[in-house]
Amino acid sequence: MIRSRIVGTGSYLPPRVLTNEELSKKLDTSDAWIQERTGIKQRHIADASQTSSDLALEASRRALQAAGVKAEDIDLIVVATSTPDFVFPGTACLLQAKLGVKGCAAFDLQAVCSGFVYALATADNFIRAGTHKRALVVGAEVFSRILDWNDRGTCVLFGDGAGAVVLAAGDQPGIHASVLHADGSQAGILSVPGNVCGGKIIGSPFLQMQGNQVFKFAVKVLDEVARETAQAAGIKLAEVDWLIPHQANIRILEAVAKKLDLPRERLAVTVDRHGNTSAASVPLALDEYVRAGRIKPGHKVMLQGVGGGFTWGASLLTM
Ligand code: UT7
Repeated sequence: MIRSRIVGTGSYLPPRVLTNEELSKKLDTSDAWIQERTGIKQRHIADASQTSSDLALEASRRALQAAGVKAEDIDLIVVATSTPDFVFPGTACLLQAKLGVKGCAAFDLQAVCSGFVYALATADNFIRAGTHKRALVVGAEVFSRILDWNDRGTCVLFGDGAGAVVLAAGDQPGIHASVLHADGSQAGILSVPGNVCGGKIIGSPFLQMQGNQVFKFAVKVLDEVARETAQAAGIKLAEVDWLIPHQANIRILEAVAKKLDLPRERLAVTVDRHGNTSAASVPLALDEYVRAGRIKPGHKVMLQGVGGGFTWGASLLTM
């Protein structure tokens, strides 16, 4: 049976760092409030000249180098983003061109903060089906562009960045199981409810969120989907070496680890330095922990996404 395995990871954070102190000079907020309620100390902000495909390119180059795979050997590119460069063409096609290759399948996937987990499960299925052998799976976001910087309830939470993995066919997992879910009836609690029509923005181009409802929903579904995924994989939760939930809020991450009875040491945390980078947060954290030598070959890792849609999902894999 064909299975897929992550053979290289990469990530990129734009150099500009925006601290809580800096935000509190312009907004009615404080470093103490932001840290206490979210765990966030700082976030990275893309330069005005950088788009999601630029961030994706840097992360992809690093993942390809780590994998020892050339861009021309990739036969599928999936980019998870809610902040694409354009309405169309897709950011994945722009990334393909920036990588200097052509021909392979390339498409975007829109599942907001669950985007990377959805994209990984999608690429895994392409590889298991036997039609594709080496996929580049990317989460790339410039959420700073869709924030109302006068809304202290949302703008302090997010940051920009990209993460990527190379997924290759093999005879051993790799990815043991992925579980994806959505509930469109909850679309209103986290959205950017606008579109472009007749040369104008209709609705709002800014992120809106019912923070409390999102918080409760996230803790509940991340707990449920971890159990469901472990069962589908035939692996006990206690065997999971690393839990990498979507990096939204340290209180959500710690609540999920506690519900799952996983010790704090097995929880990957980057939200303190990256903020919430939506579809980029999981591959950014994965790459950081791999490069730091904390996630090692053979470790069992649970990746989890949750966000707008509402969408949520998890993948359980052996590195
Ligand atoms: O990718 C998934 C997307 N999002 C999430 O996962 C976010 C999930 N939700 C959360 O992380 C939290 O709900 C927040 C961090 C957004 C808010 O934390 P909270 O503990 O739920 O606070 P709250 O919304 O209940 O607000 C408490 C107070 C309010 O003041 P009043 O009404 O009690 O006077 C807010 O106006 O805190 C106020 N507040 C702030 N104060 C200082 C809200 N934002 C700020 C701020 N600085 N930045």
